[in-house]
Amino acid sequence: MPARDKVKTPVQHLSAQKLFERFSLESRNRSIEKILKTQKDLPKVSREKLELIRALKPPFKRFHGTKVPLPWFPFWLWRTQCSDKFGYLTPKAVRTATKLPFNATTRSLLQQLGHFMADPARAAGNDSTIPAGYTYFGQFVDHDITLDIASNLDAEQEATAINNMRSPSLDLDNVYGSGPALHPYLYLFPNSGPPTAIKMLLGTNQNMGGGGPGSAGGSGPMGTPTNSDVPRMPGTNTAVIGDPRNDENLIISQFQHAMLKLHNQIVDALLAAGFTGDVFLQAKRTVTWNYQWAVVHDFLKRVCGATRVDTALASVTAAPNSAFAMPVEFAVAAYRFGHSMVRDFYWINQAQIQASLADVFAFNRNPLLPVFSNWVVDFNAFFDTGFAAAVHNKAKKIDSTLAPGLDTLPGFTGLMAMLATRNLLRGAALGLPSGQGVAGHFGVAPLTAAQLKQGLSAEETALLDSAGGVLLTKTPLWYYVLREAAVLHNGDQLGPVGGRIVAETFVRILKRDPDSFLNAATPFTPSLPSATPGNFTVADLLNVARVTVP
Ligand code: HEM
Repeated sequence: MPARDKVKTPVQHLSAQKLFERFSLESRNRSIEKILKTQKDLPKVSREKLELIRALKPPFKRFHGTKVPLPWFPFWLWRTQCSDKFGYLTPKAVRTATKLPFNATTRSLLQQLGHFMADPARAAGNDSTIPAGYTYFGQFVDHDITLDIASNLDAEQEATAINNMRSPSLDLDNVYGSGPALHPYLYLFPNSGPPTAIKMLLGTNQNMGGGGPGSAGGSGPMGTPTNSDVPRMPGTNTAVIGDPRNDENLIISQFQHAMLKLHNQIVDALLAAGFTGDVFLQAKRTVTWNYQWAVVHDFLKRVCGATRVDTALASVTAAPNSAFAMPVEFAVAAYRFGHSMVRDFYWINQAQIQASLADVFAFNRNPLLPVFSNWVVDFNAFFDTGFAAAVHNKAKKIDSTLAPGLDTLPGFTGLMAMLATRNLLRGAALGLPSGQGVAGHFGVAPLTAAQLKQGLSAEETALLDSAGGVLLTKTPLWYYVLREAAVLHNGDQLGPVGGRIVAETFVRILKRDPDSFLNAATPFTPSLPSATPGNFTVADLLNVARVTVP
């Protein structure tokens, strides 16, 4: 018989006896044994991961902060040479000499400190001068560039072995995914007109009455929003967006929806202007470059200080396409400064004037989905948009006090529900240098023990003094960055260590990206309408997206 014909006999041609043999309990068990043998090739799932995977299931269905087995992702994202990795910006010698030892004593100290930072029994943190919307813009930007789904809180690890599952460039892959060809379910393809006029899909709200911005310049009655949500799967309400973390809370989810509308507004404007090129590409580039400009010249200048950003722009060199590993000094410490800016309560709109952080988590979760029309965010209360709002929410000061709601993260239990503790333990497990170590590396005077303790309660001071004061000599980098901001800038801006890590990392990210606005063939200045000609802010972005008017 020719080899080609030696295919398995089709089931319908088997005799009853053969069929019985093929599908008997015995043969099924033999197959299972064979399958189980192949299990040896797969890594064991740690207890931490098993606990976290629970968060992916109903009723929570949340991915944020969840560590899952790497092989759940495509091979090219986690195993090939070209996968993006995490790394360090400080030399090994600095880390070895200054990192906090990873042992039972320090782990216990960090757990106490983390829990204390968000303890509801301590006084609530004070307001900073930064509009509260920048907290969630900061979170959105984080979700554009970093995602660790594999590191482990129980054992020391080298960051260089861990993959960064997001492209480390400000390319808005959290909005566009891998584009209309690979991720068509994110997009609305036109039925008529230029075929490249591809828009982002939007969701629909549950009609619960007025919400969102007010009319008549912001202070008038609200409308009833109908399409102010991200798209969601029918039935489950899972957000259909480029990064599931952008549905982690109501405010970031609403910001994601604003970005979708921004793209759509620009598509409309290009069509109205009779643009004849590739409308999708032109709209995407316009959104991306103006967003990148706002990251550098609005967000970073606010949180790092304008001089620090200008110095980084002038001093950091990185050739386009040069090698890069996302530094954990940034991703696991300095850039987590935003966790301390989260408020306990927000004025969401004229109908929701005292929403707790628990509400902010609840009102984009089942059963309160799709987002209720009366919970649509009035961004005029979160950014200086030029439109009136009864309240302008300010971010909390960048300091060592966190909102208590961050000690009981929804969907998690025990240690995993405590954000500050996770940040501190993750930093220690990855062998981060101490704050003093990075200060020395940068050639700046480290904070003294007295400065680290300045203005703190007797309880927090006692914790820092315990165990021979190791937290004062080898201060965890995240905690150091927060204390530095509090002591040197009254919590309104990062200090010399935190600000430099953050500003330099972003500038490097943009300079090495051949497609960024910094590498435009002709020098780029913002092309979208703005309050100040030649500049472009996050508030301008929201105005262009038309989410600041009903
Ligand atoms: C309500 C607001 C927020 C919540 C609930 C939240 C929650 C979390 C959680 C659970 C993690 C994983 C922690 C771990 O196990 O190591 C995380 C990571 C992180 N967060 Fe936040 N976060 C919030 C806001 C922010 C803000 C405002 C920023 C910065 C401005 C930020 C920056 C980061 C960064 C850089 C990471 C590491 C991401 C990675 O590489 O995987 N977060 N956050």
